[in-house]
Formats: sequence, structure tokens, C-alpha cells
Amino acid sequence: MSIRIGRNDPCWCGSGQKYKKCHETFDLKLEGLRRQGVPLINHSLLKSPLQVEKIKESCRINVGILDYIQEHIQAGISTAEIDQWVYDYTIRHHAIPAPLNYEGFPKSCCTSIDDVVCHGIPKESEILKDGDIINVDISTIYQGCFSDSSRMFCIGKVSPEKERLVKVCKECVEIGIAAVRPWEPIGNMGHAVHEHAAKNGYSVVRDIGGHGVGFEFHEDPFVSYVAEEGTGVLMVPGMMFTIEPMVNMGSEDVWTDQDDNWTVRTEDGLPSAQWEVTVYVTEDGCEVITW
Ligand code: MF3
Ligand code: CO
Repeated sequence: MSIRIGRNDPCWCGSGQKYKKCHETFDLKLEGLRRQGVPLINHSLLKSPLQVEKIKESCRINVGILDYIQEHIQAGISTAEIDQWVYDYTIRHHAIPAPLNYEGFPKSCCTSIDDVVCHGIPKESEILKDGDIINVDISTIYQGCFSDSSRMFCIGKVSPEKERLVKVCKECVEIGIAAVRPWEPIGNMGHAVHEHAAKNGYSVVRDIGGHGVGFEFHEDPFVSYVAEEGTGVLMVPGMMFTIEPMVNMGSEDVWTDQDDNWTVRTEDGLPSAQWEVTVYVTEDGCEVITW
């Protein structure tokens, strides 16, 4: 696409500066790359610093929910109780839980224990017990802005094998964050994530990945954490996307429970871990806006 804007008009980014002094060079660079056939996401998905400030208000609530869970989660509570905490905290902060009624999802967060890879549905009958590892995935809508992040929690005394899986998965995210460099293909980031998991004897789920986020729950691009170097869209300053690899102790194969059409499990029944952050691509790397 091309931007129809006068050189002396105010820049689209809201800086108040003239376009020619602000994003004109940036837009011409993008336009040139697009003409060369370099894959890029649509310009309208790039977020200006002003927009990021708004989205960060949503992120603050999202992180607050995870902090609250971290303080209160323990053996003996049900995943439905966690869901109630999420709902109450969100509403108290004048926000909306993004998963609730999303494509028919019945709860306010996803709770995924052990071999559940993602999209586990909180339940009264599911009680956390000593030795469980659980991912709680939180997404919040605040004033039209979407935030998305998740953490792993180890309940009581967890086996060294599971503990290592959780730790390595977190390292994968940290390595992904460090691999976000503007004007490089997003596959470089995904490749770095995969390499760290594989080096540790783990696999990374191929069929489910991350996504752009900000003004929709799931925006372009699809983000793979098993990508080849040099592939995928270019990471461009202003892009916002999630880094959320699902790292499996065994095989990468997963299946979706036909009873609820949501719960994704590992094929071999071995545990899976996931951490999720959202990053904002800058001129010299990225800013992590939820952790
Ligand atoms: N963070 C998860 C995702 O990005 C949340 C899924 S919510 C659900 O896919 F409703 F789709 F389960
Ligand atoms: Co997500």
C-alpha cells in the first residue's frame, strides 16, 4: 500500500511533526522493500508510540492479573477458582477478559496442566496438586486495546524433569526476545527459539504459534517458533507480536480434545510448557510490553 499524505502534513504517527521530518523516510524504505518483494505486514498494523502507550494500559492490567495469580496459586485450588480471580480482577479494572466467549470459549483464561499444551478450560473438578506444572494464559481488552501473556507455575514440589522443561521454555522466550532485530525476517527469531529447545532435547509445537496483537486479539503475522532463518515477514519498527513457544518434553505432535473442541494435548502424553510475552519492535531491538 502507499500512504497518501502531504509532506508538510502532520505525520500519521501522531508525533505532531511534519510527515517529511518524521516517518516519510521510513515509509519510503518500506515501500521500496515491498516493491522488491520482501514480505511485510500491512502498514496499518504498525503501532505508533502514542498507540503503544494506550496498549500498555491494557498490558498493565494483564500483568497485574498474572502477578495476582502468582501470589495465590497453590495445591488444592481448582482451575475454576483461578478463572474467577481473572474475571473479578479484570472487571474491577474496567476491562474485559478477551477469551470469554471468544469463538465460543466459555471461560476468562486458559489453564493448561502437564500434557495440556494450551487452551485448557478451567473447571471446578480440576484441582491443582503437588507436582503439577500449569500455564495460565491471560488476555485482556481495555478500551479497545488487547494484551496477551502467560506464565508457568510449578505447584509444590515438581520433578526435576518438569522443572527443567519450564526453565528451558522460559529461556527460549528470552532468546526469542534477544533475536528480535528490526529489518530482519521474523524466521530468525523463531529459529533461535527452536534451536535452544532442540539443543536441550525438546521439541516445539509446529501447528500452533504466536500472532500480532494490539487492536485485535490475533493480528498478522502468524509467528512460528520452528521457522527457518531468513523466512517470514520482516520485523519492522512498530510491529507488535507475541513470543509464546509451546515446548514439549517429547514429540511435537498434538491433538485437540473432541469433547470440548479446545483442549490441546501432547500426542505422547508427556508434559508441555509455555511462556508468553508481547514485544514491540523498535529501531534497535524490541521492548517487552508484557511479561
Ligand atoms: N493467548 C491465547 C492465544 O493467543 C489465548 C487463547 S484464548 C482462547 O491463542 F479463547 F482462544 F482460548
Ligand atoms: Co497469544
